[in-house]
Amino acid sequence: MATRALIITSSILAENGQSNALANRFIEQANARDNIEVTQRDVVKNALPHLDINELGAWQLAATERNAEQQSLAARSETLLAELRANDVLVIAVPMYNLGIPSQLKAWFDRVLRAGETFRYTENGPQGLVEGKRAIILAARGGQYAGTEMDSQTPHLKAMLGLMGIKDTHVVYAEGLNMGEQHRDAALKEAFQAIDQLVEGL
Ligand SMILES: Cc1cc2nc3c(=O)[nH]c(=O)nc-3n(C[C@H](O)[C@H](O)[C@H](O)COP(=O)(O)O)c2cc1C
Repeated sequence: MATRALIITSSILAENGQSNALANRFIEQANARDNIEVTQRDVVKNALPHLDINELGAWQLAATERNAEQQSLAARSETLLAELRANDVLVIAVPMYNLGIPSQLKAWFDRVLRAGETFRYTENGPQGLVEGKRAIILAARGGQYAGTEMDSQTPHLKAMLGLMGIKDTHVVYAEGLNMGEQHRDAALKEAFQAIDQLVEGL
């Protein structure tokens, strides 16, 4: 059976986005194999609004009790949850913006990180409900932050994935992309090689 990969892209720079270049490399390599099916969701092109009280309220109602507006609000999250559940591997292509993730990507996480759906609270703390999936993070950054205290992005992403139960997460970094052409080319080359290896292992 084919491995299904959901790739989330989140650069605001469209075809000039370096994280999109990493995502495209993944897609290109995956499409060259017949055992991987890729679904792409661009959370910038299909941007979600900030989560608000009306949408949260719609989740709290039984489907039969929702009015038309509440149904369409609840459908946002339901569509994304179904897409997540239908895939085996979650690939997140993420630029670093102001030391964090793009707010559009946070809006996606706000729709899939739902108590009672993807995790639940128990006496022993939260328990992830998403089983048997792994994640790959493709991280593009202008500077160099991996492994330093300034990198709050990777721990944040791993914590959100871990909360859902996705604990097998691999990070590919393309760092120092704004530190000169030579540096950028070397970082991208290394990241592409890492992506090729990961796709081969799927
Ligand atoms: C609004 C904005 C904020 C940024 N903040 C950071 C930052 O905090 N740290 C960093 O290393 N690079 C930062 N950068 C540089 C990006 O991480 C870098 O250009 C990377 O290639 C962005 O990925 P993208 O090209 O896929 O959008 C920032 C870029 C933009 C546009």
